[in-house]
Amino acid sequence: MTGRPEWLENPWKQNAWFESVAVAQQRARKRLPAPVYGALLAGSERGQTIDDNQGAFAELGLSPHVAGHHAERAMGRTLMGQDISLPVVISPTGVQAVHPDGEVAVARAAAARGTVMGLSNFASKSVEDVTATGATTFFQMYWTGERDVMLQRMQRAHDAGALGLIATLDWSFSMGRDWGSPEIPEKVDLKTMVRMAPKVATKPRWLYQFGKTGQIPDLTAPNLAAPGEAKGPTFFAAYYEWMTTPPPSWDDVAWMRDQWHQISGRPFMLKGVGRVDDARRAVDAGVEALSVSNHGGNNLDGTPAAIRLVKPIADAVGGQVEVVMDGGIRRGSDVVKAVALGARAVMIGRAYLWGLAANGQAGVENVLDVLRSGIDSALLGLGVSSIEELTPEHLLVPEGFHRAIGAPTSAQDGVLR
Ligand SMILES: Cc1cc2nc3c(=O)[nH]c(=O)nc-3n(C[C@H](O)[C@H](O)[C@H](O)COP(=O)(O)O)c2cc1C
Repeated sequence: MTGRPEWLENPWKQNAWFESVAVAQQRARKRLPAPVYGALLAGSERGQTIDDNQGAFAELGLSPHVAGHHAERAMGRTLMGQDISLPVVISPTGVQAVHPDGEVAVARAAAARGTVMGLSNFASKSVEDVTATGATTFFQMYWTGERDVMLQRMQRAHDAGALGLIATLDWSFSMGRDWGSPEIPEKVDLKTMVRMAPKVATKPRWLYQFGKTGQIPDLTAPNLAAPGEAKGPTFFAAYYEWMTTPPPSWDDVAWMRDQWHQISGRPFMLKGVGRVDDARRAVDAGVEALSVSNHGGNNLDGTPAAIRLVKPIADAVGGQVEVVMDGGIRRGSDVVKAVALGARAVMIGRAYLWGLAANGQAGVENVLDVLRSGIDSALLGLGVSSIEELTPEHLLVPEGFHRAIGAPTSAQDGVLR
């Protein structure tokens, strides 16, 4: 030891810390087997929506001040009754084969950074294991299975300590991707492992992580297990149940919300809203929150970027329900833009999945820290002392940016009048 700081000992040593979500993505690509990385990237059809989700943020500018800045900036608020230390929460995803600790690592990171964990019903870890981390958890459900089965799943989530329910109803079973879908095996047995070996053999760190735990990703969904069953269905069995469940009506949305209220007395979020008229119906169905979302562009390709829909929807229903958005968040200034246009918070998907792939729990914490620091920089530069002060006036919004779909007075420029 020379007594110098560690980074001076060997400045070329690979640093596990990353400075941006883009770097986390590069590391995830390097570390994960191609089919796993491809499944995270996702996107559907020609990728119009996934591209617009990110591209639209780059159309928005910020209007800075040169002096009169604030030494202290606040970014905490509440969402669905829970304190969040920054306006960013974890969006539910199934992260089956990214990391052996999967959603448990993500939940620990969320708890360590003071935010909410959204847990998918297609997740690789059980809701009990996730709430045991101490993370404030919202459980997410698709409209899948018979009603009594949905009730069992809601009850189980409540009993495990979930403090909110997210119903994701925008899925349209779009299958084709112009760049090809990654292979997802039905189950991971010896035959599959041998066949896929060339794709994973070049990824020693990923193999080592799973090897250490003595587990291989088993691609099951434990939160969909029937009562008394130790293991959940395979991903494909779960997907089949979902595909063959008749799609929900607005009465079903109200039913789901009422059942959750009766079981838990806790708030309910509808995720996947893209239109002003649907947002109004969601209010009528009694939801406490909605997420303006196109499922990260994995769904119906050609729907606009979620950020284009935020202001029209927040203007219409933001006084009645909490409006959050998700899709395309890659940096703190994206969060500030969404909040300035009326979002109470944003939810992130790929950003934390890449962090998880890059460095496990610490990688997810790193992503949340990158976003926090980016939000703070933007607040400083904009001359505001809190996210509560943000308005559209802090942004440079090009004409025609917003999309007010289904608005009664849908104007050419998409701004509600
Ligand atoms: C790999 C992957 C799996 C996902 N799984 C789910 C899911 O199980 N439930 C859900 O509501 N949304 C799911 N989503 C959508 C995310 O919750 C979120 O809406 C989307 O990722 C936000 O876009 P972003 O990735 O650009 O942040 C998934 C997204 C990805 C990329």
